[in-house]
Amino acid sequence: MAKKNQTLGEFIIENQDSFKYTSGELSRLINSIRLAAKVVNHEVNKAGLVDITGAAGDTNIQGEDQQKLDVYANEKFIQTLTKRNIVCGIASEEEDDFVAINSQDENNQNKYVVLIDPLDGSSNIDVNVSVGTIFSIYRRVTPLGTPVKLEDFLQKGSKQVAAGYVVYGTSTMLVYTTGYGVNGFTLNPAIGTFYLSHPNMTFPEDGNIYSVNEGNYLDFPLGIKKYIKYCQEEEDERPYTSRYIGSLVSDFHRNMIKGGVYMYPKGSRNPNGKLRLLYECNPMAFIAEQANGKSSDGYTRTMDVEPTELHQRVPFICGSKNMVNKVEEFMQKFGE
Ligand code: AHG
Ligand code: MN
Ligand code: MN
Repeated sequence: MAKKNQTLGEFIIENQDSFKYTSGELSRLINSIRLAAKVVNHEVNKAGLVDITGAAGDTNIQGEDQQKLDVYANEKFIQTLTKRNIVCGIASEEEDDFVAINSQDENNQNKYVVLIDPLDGSSNIDVNVSVGTIFSIYRRVTPLGTPVKLEDFLQKGSKQVAAGYVVYGTSTMLVYTTGYGVNGFTLNPAIGTFYLSHPNMTFPEDGNIYSVNEGNYLDFPLGIKKYIKYCQEEEDERPYTSRYIGSLVSDFHRNMIKGGVYMYPKGSRNPNGKLRLLYECNPMAFIAEQANGKSSDGYTRTMDVEPTELHQRVPFICGSKNMVNKVEEFMQKFGE
């Protein structure tokens, strides 16, 4: 049972038995994500200070170049996840190929793979706008103690055992699901502890926010153009409003709380959309469905798409159920 103000550590321990696989490894895995999130949060928070103080300068203590935050976040998550014996492989938006972790060792019993977008919306860092981290967790499909393979990562979203995101916003939150609803934890930065602030999060069935980069309007499929016009021209009370931050995590988080739909459709510049199926769309789709929302590419459920490559992109329509249904109606009626 989710109890408000419980710490994330307490929540993980208390809910361990309700996980699908109760060995405790998944709990430890979520714990290590919690730790990496705090480290990245600390760095993100002082992003604007680096130039002012020069403290971090151009080189660090080892004489290495000061790293851009998305590279930093990537390293921190990979380091933290690698150190614990839980994960046999990590695929990251920042890495060309997946990273295998001692998976050739026959004594290695690590059964989980993690897919991660270490810093989502990173172009927003320079202008002090919220960014995030997205993660997705699967059980490997190849035998334990053998080298991890591409097929361990190319699993359908419906096979996820857990997924979540961190939003580094006006406050920092970690929101995740293990398939039993969605819970959100807010970081108290003074003591470095996440507290359960948003138990059992759900999308309102309906909403009035549509989130899309309208700068790409001319490029959109006809179904999306017509849907946007429908939102703008709805006669009665004109109930719709547009909100687009440009950080998927933040746009999704707002829509889940207030009710809305996020769209990144295909276009001539992005023939399959821009967002990545494995690091962005599937984890968000899992959270959305667990929160009574919906996610599709306009026709097919996101989590039913069969992945064919690590960095695959798909069109992404996600949010309040009735709004996603409406977009699908428009796609079916007007198509491309
Ligand atoms: P990332 O920073 O991980 O590359 O992701 C950016 C994504 C996503 O967060 C956001 O919703 C989208 O790109 C914004 O794209 P546009 O600037 O094309 O609207
Ligand atoms: Mn991203
Ligand atoms: Mn990213």
